[in-house]
Amino acid sequence: MNYENLLLEQPAPGIFCLTVNRPKALNALNAATLAELAQAIAAVSANTAARVLLITGAGDKAFVAGADIAAMRDMTEEQALAFSQAGMSVMHALEALPVPVIGLVNGYALGGGCELALACDWVIASERAVFGQPEVNLGIPPGFGGTQRLLRRVGTARALELVTTGRQVRADEALRIGLATQVVAPDTLMECGLSAARTIAAKGPLAVRDAKRAVQQGQSLGLAEGCALETALFAAAFGTSDQREGMGAFLDKRAPQFSGR
Ligand code: CAA
Repeated sequence: MNYENLLLEQPAPGIFCLTVNRPKALNALNAATLAELAQAIAAVSANTAARVLLITGAGDKAFVAGADIAAMRDMTEEQALAFSQAGMSVMHALEALPVPVIGLVNGYALGGGCELALACDWVIASERAVFGQPEVNLGIPPGFGGTQRLLRRVGTARALELVTTGRQVRADEALRIGLATQVVAPDTLMECGLSAARTIAAKGPLAVRDAKRAVQQGQSLGLAEGCALETALFAAAFGTSDQREGMGAFLDKRAPQFSGR
């Protein structure tokens, strides 16, 4: 499928890479780009061969510099409601993908861009990455889930500081506070992402899916409920060929060949 503002590529079997591609506007998210993101995420979700999704921004300056300010300037409250709902729906869809989603933050990830990074399962950042929720500079609060996902990722006080001051966070601080899990040289970012993706793609696909699901759902469950979910998923794995293959291969001292069944 051809997109106007995105590239969806498959650099290796099972590995998809989605690039937000509006470099002239620093990859800012307008309604058309959000609609295309929804389509691309649905396409990855429907692809049973998908194992990992990488997300990055085109050009060397920005991941995504935010929601499109020119498109938002004259919005009515009703239009802003629909725009926020469209953005929220994209972030939810990304989070709900059964496969791991890794954000490769190559530059500015501000506002809606930081929110896109937060909706990824984790982030590998270039040394040039800059994160922030600068919406208060524009007279608005965040609108694509930033207040909620930021507090879950970095804690309440840090989230409050960032959303009320609009302060920008460079890569080293992002690593320290958990916005990024790794910081790498700019020209190695894609290779690092692909390397992580290849590692995941070689694992048991059902196990990866269930491990992601348990961690994600655990964020909104009590400990006992979360552990009960883990027990159910663990037990169900013993009804799969992948469990027999994974354990058999270990005991036979050979590499496993998972079938995803
Ligand atoms: N929306 C629309 N256009 C944007 C944009 C955005 N969020 N960010 C950058 N651009 C455009 C600029 O208008 C400029 O266009 P022209 O060349 O046509 O003038 C082009 O991208 C390049 O930007 P700059 O000249 O500003 O580049 P810079 O290197 O001087 O600065 C920057 C880079 C610090 C990222 C700066 O562009 C900036 O501050 N951008 C806005 C960041 C922001 O406020 N994001 C939050 C938006 S609100 C939001 O996201 C709400 C929400 O939660 C849903």
